[in-house]
Order: sequence, then structure tokens, then C-alpha cells
Amino acid sequence: FIAELDASDIEKGTYPHYMLKEIDEQPFVIRTIIQKYSNDNGELVIDQNILGAINQADRLYIIAAGTSYHAGMVGKNIIERLAKIPTEVHVASEFGYNMPLLSEKPLFIFISQSGETADSRAVLVQIKKMGYQALTITNVPGSTLSREADYTLLLHAGPEIAVASTKAYTAQVAVLSILAEVVARSKGLPIDVDLVHELGIVASAMEELCDTRDAFEQIASDYLSFARSSFFIGRTLDYAVCLEGALKLKEISYIQAEGFAGGELKHGPIALIEEGTPVFVLSTQENVNLPIRGNVKEVAARGANACIISMKGLEMDGDRFVLPQVHELLTPLISVVPMQFIAYYAALHRGCDVDKPRNLAKSVTVE
Ligand code: AGP
Repeated sequence: FIAELDASDIEKGTYPHYMLKEIDEQPFVIRTIIQKYSNDNGELVIDQNILGAINQADRLYIIAAGTSYHAGMVGKNIIERLAKIPTEVHVASEFGYNMPLLSEKPLFIFISQSGETADSRAVLVQIKKMGYQALTITNVPGSTLSREADYTLLLHAGPEIAVASTKAYTAQVAVLSILAEVVARSKGLPIDVDLVHELGIVASAMEELCDTRDAFEQIASDYLSFARSSFFIGRTLDYAVCLEGALKLKEISYIQAEGFAGGELKHGPIALIEEGTPVFVLSTQENVNLPIRGNVKEVAARGANACIISMKGLEMDGDRFVLPQVHELLTPLISVVPMQFIAYYAALHRGCDVDKPRNLAKSVTVE
């Protein structure tokens, strides 16, 4: 039985920063989640009431902020692919104003590490007044978003102290993938993934990446030592992870960073590319591997310093790092790890306060 992380785990131990410790905890957290969401026969299960609420819904609205919003973007992909339920993802602070509900029977899913984000809570209060139901996915039992929702799924990630969220993000994606699979099975839909097996592979691959952190420190040094701005480009699931990679970098190193859908570059952003601009490229999705490499050619032709991070099976000459292969729906759990390390080392090299970056709080409890 995997014991919950207890209070003593809050200490940094031998780590220089909580963020580094929490990146390293991710394989353990994934294994904990598998354990917590499995029955005695090793089958993935979720609370029957939650299953019932989701199966009655004709549309899901994921509401979140920051990194949790990025996890929601990945969750949308997985839920629609496996459970075939139309799913929208909205930034909490933008959603409440016109509430464009296109559904008779919506279910709202709030994703929040702290369970205290005021932007998200404001939406929860609103939709409860409208008589709708809500599920909160959070790391904090008894948090406001958990108490005020109808249902809760816990992340079991243990306390996340660093302002920059890492293990909570991967825990959110893992729980969303389990939710999607269990719902799909309950609907008798065909499933092409055995999540218990695949999440186990993910945990091992995460460990492998944590052991190669020196490669990511070198990447941070090679591409970001003198950078004033940086781009993260990818397509489909990789685009969602690029948004998270850009947020990690900007919030702790203060380097301007932006994530772009590769296909969008030609509609404006490519005008920003100058000689030496660092462009991080993710390619883990077979169906867009060639198009994103076409985008690399476009930016390289304008002087960009492209750092391609691909996945085994899709790699090509010139790729800077090749990730271990995992199921294509779960690649964000792997491709986010280099992003976390690159941001960590870029901030470290610049002498920034990695765990407590300027202007930021761990939980934004004001709107
Ligand atoms: C992520 O690294 C940031 N700390 C921030 O964007 C955070 O994800 C956001 O404030 C949402 O917090 P929550 O998950 O606790 O709701």
C-alpha cells in the first residue's frame, strides 16, 4: 500500500529547491494515482456518483487557470478521444461574463491544485446558482472548490510548495486520463489504451528523464543564457504542452516566452523571429510530425535557434533530445518534464528565486 505523503515530505530534504524535488516526485505521484484509482482487482475505478453525473452530461465545461488550464487542454483531447463527450476548456477569469452555454445538460469540471483560486470559485458560485452540477479535481481535500462542488477527485500529489506547478500538472493529466477511460468503459466504447499499463510506462519514462536532467541544464545554457525572449511551438497535444512550457519559463526565469500552435506562425508571430531567437519545438504526435518540422524550417530560415525535442519513433537527424516512447495520448506527461527542467535551470542560472518568483503567489485567492 502506498502511504500518502505525510507532513515530513514538505521539507526540501537534500534538494536545493522544492521545485526540483517536486519534479522528481512525479513518477511516484503517477504510481500513487494508479494505486488510488484502482480496485482490488487492479481495475481503474472512479466514484459511481461521478460516473453517473458525467454520463448524464451532453457537454463538459472544464474551468481552470494557469497551469491547470493547460492540463485541462490536454484533458479535453483525451476525454473527447476516449469518452466521446464534447468538452470545452475555458480560462476561469474569462468564462463568467457571457456563459455561452451550448448544452442542455452540462457538467462543469474545475481543475485546481490549491482548490482556492478565486477566478475559478467565482464561476463555481455562478453555475451553482444556475442549478448546474460541478466536479472539482484538486490536490487539497476540504478546499473551497472541493467543498462547494458536488463531487471531488483528488490528485494525491502531496503538498506542492513551489509556486511553479509541476507534479500537480502531471497528476491532473493522469487523473483526467483515468476519468476518460473509466467513462468510456462504462459506455461500452472501444478503448485502444490500457491506462494502468501505459501510466506505468510513463512513470518509468519520467524516472529516466529525471536521471538525464544534466542534458536539460545544458539545453537551458545553450539556448537561454542570453535570451530576451523565446518561443515554444507544437501542434495538437504538443501545442498544449508548449503553452505550459512557456508559462514555466516566464514565471520563474522572467524570460519572455510564448507558446504557439505551429500552424499559426505564418499568421503573424513569425515576424518576431530574429537571428538567434530560441525556438523550442515539440514533436511527439505522429500525424503532425512532418508539418511541425516544416515550421522548424520556416523559423530556422529566419535565423531562429531551434531546439527540437521529439519522441522515439519520430526522431530525425538534428533533434536535440529524443523522449522515451509512451502512448500518444499520454505524451504530455513526458514532454512536459524537459520543459520543467529547462525552466528550472534557466531561472537558476539567472539567480532567480526558483521557488518564490517575484510578483506571484502559490494560490491566487483574489480575482
Ligand atoms: C502555475 O505554475 C502557476 N503557479 C499558476 O498558473 C497556477 O497554475 C494557477 O494560479 C492556478 O492555480 P490552481 O491550480 O491552484 O487553481
